[in-house]
Amino acid sequence: MSALRFDAVTIRLGGRDILSAASFVIEDGEFIGMLGANGAGKTTLMRAALGLTPVASGAIRVLDRPATRGNAAVGYMPQNRGRAQGQRLTGYDVVASAAIGARFGLVRLDKAMRREIDWALDHVDARALARRSIGELSGGERQRLLLSQALLGRPRLLLLDEPLISLDPAYQKGVVDIARRLRDELNIAILFSAHELNPLVNAIDRVLYLGGGAAVIGPVDEVVTGPVLSRLYGAEIEVVRVKERFFVMAGDVDVEREAHRHEHGHGHGHGHAQDG
Ligand SMILES: Nc1ncnc2c1ncn2[C@@H]1O[C@H](COP(=O)(O)OP(=O)(O)OP(=O)(O)O)[C@@H](O)[C@H]1O
Ligand SMILES: [Mg+2]
Repeated sequence: MSALRFDAVTIRLGGRDILSAASFVIEDGEFIGMLGANGAGKTTLMRAALGLTPVASGAIRVLDRPATRGNAAVGYMPQNRGRAQGQRLTGYDVVASAAIGARFGLVRLDKAMRREIDWALDHVDARALARRSIGELSGGERQRLLLSQALLGRPRLLLLDEPLISLDPAYQKGVVDIARRLRDELNIAILFSAHELNPLVNAIDRVLYLGGGAAVIGPVDEVVTGPVLSRLYGAEIEVVRVKERFFVMAGDVDVEREAHRHEHGHGHGHGHAQDG
């Protein structure tokens, strides 16, 4: 069974093709890193897989069925997470309210639901975090709670949109390790978007690269190359590899790192904090 399959999918937004006849298959239990510049369509692709964004043509299949809204077999951690509401709520309250929300307004947590919440918290090492109020948690700690929230309902496919944003390298590694463990222990397929390959490169099975409306999937060594990325970006790209690290260069600019800097808006302190 495949976890996610795009067959010649075209998605048009605001009169523009964000994806044009993009095809790829993610197998069951695969951990895929999704890369692509700002605006390449990473979030759009996930929303389409969730049935939230319609396709102009082509077909999307999720776990061998057509993509539909509200598919409990798909867990989603959106990119726009904003500031948490209700800072005095505990982490547990936040995850529990998501569990309740999924059951259409049931107010009381029954035993089965508590077990489900504990199961999700345990898989991201967040049992202790969940006892604290979310207002006092760091960004990275809150991220872990959101990850546990995405696990509610025991999905077979997990869509994680930029879980590394605004985390420092040590915390990034923690999140990537957790994702890898979820894949290993639960055999969940994971689509994990990011602006930089380096934090992911040792954990993922394959990479999905988006650019110019196209999608290319494959082993890192085959996809993250000058010729393939030049085709996607429609510009001369050189991939420089130093030990285990990749640098995707257009001229003398590292394009992935530039995208990362823009995401943070100001650029101070983030652009070069990837070592380790
Ligand atoms: N509802 C919409 N109407 C019109 N254009 C849209 C809409 N949603 C997204 N877009 C455009 O589609 C393109 C892809 O956006 P998307 O958010 O998928 O990119 P992304 O790869 O996730 O980028 P980032 O790395 O910045 O998160 C962007 O140019 C965006 O402006
Ligand atoms: Mg996005």
